[in-house]
Amino acid sequence: MNKDIRSLLDLTKENIDFLLNRAIELKKRHKKGISDNSLAGKSVGLIFDKASTRTRISFETATIQLGATPIFMNAKDMQLSRSEPIKDTARVLSRYIDALVLRTYEQDLIDEFSEYSSIPVINALSDMYHPCQILSDIMTVVEAKGDYNQKIVWIGDGNNVAHSWINAASILGFELVLACPKGYYPDDKILKDAQKKNNKIVVVEDPFEAIKDADVVNTDVWASMGQESEQKKREKAFAGYEVNSKLLEKAKIDKVVMHCLPAHRGEEISEEVLEGEFSVVWDQAENKRHMHKSILETLINNNK
Ligand code: CP
Ligand code: NVA
Repeated sequence: MNKDIRSLLDLTKENIDFLLNRAIELKKRHKKGISDNSLAGKSVGLIFDKASTRTRISFETATIQLGATPIFMNAKDMQLSRSEPIKDTARVLSRYIDALVLRTYEQDLIDEFSEYSSIPVINALSDMYHPCQILSDIMTVVEAKGDYNQKIVWIGDGNNVAHSWINAASILGFELVLACPKGYYPDDKILKDAQKKNNKIVVVEDPFEAIKDADVVNTDVWASMGQESEQKKREKAFAGYEVNSKLLEKAKIDKVVMHCLPAHRGEEISEEVLEGEFSVVWDQAENKRHMHKSILETLINNNK
């Protein structure tokens, strides 16, 4: 396994299957009240330059539950904010901690940390990708549907979360249909590289066309962190892309609806769908904790 998860492209199908199986096992053990101590004496640093509820807290609790200590670092309190180079920060932190979890704007920052760190560097969201989210989301798909060989549909913005779904489909081979308005398609290179490996990755404009016979329906906010000033413009562009009951009727009868959260009810998803019988969003949020345990344990032990 590679040292880092900068994006899902750092992982093979075998790596992902391993992480999934271990997360499912860790979840079962947790439910039985069995505690794991596989990272006793280790420490995990977290540098978050954007807001987070789920990712930060689930990485912190995952760290504690494996017997390690989380160290949350506000980028603004570090010498990084006073122009200390990333390459110096990365080498120094590698002498103190056993893994680094990073949430940033630019993907380049994560790549630079990865290059200069001797410890695993884990992308906890950048403007380009959200790989750990998709690992736990695939765990939720496996729990709900038995396996990940499903028709997975994405309705909305071709954003960081969509990019990681595209990466996942290229590695795992499942069908992925995205419906995005013109001007909000996924990054062309990410899409084309993925389509070379899996011809069942398709982008269309019409959400009704995309959702036909879907097993899994996914959506996310129309304006991601850092795009707040585009909110009004995006609300116009995305009109007609709300995942609501009318749209959902076209999916399979036993579909599941997913949203990485936080959700904007009445924009990308209706209240009735988010809170309705097909929604698995709370399991999805819980699974971040189990998947993050699997990721930390596997990467830290792999880097011995
Ligand atoms: N889904 C997700 O990454 O949520 P947070 O922004 O709360 O971490
Ligand atoms: N696309 C969203 C995901 C938040 C978890 C964002 O980047 O803000």
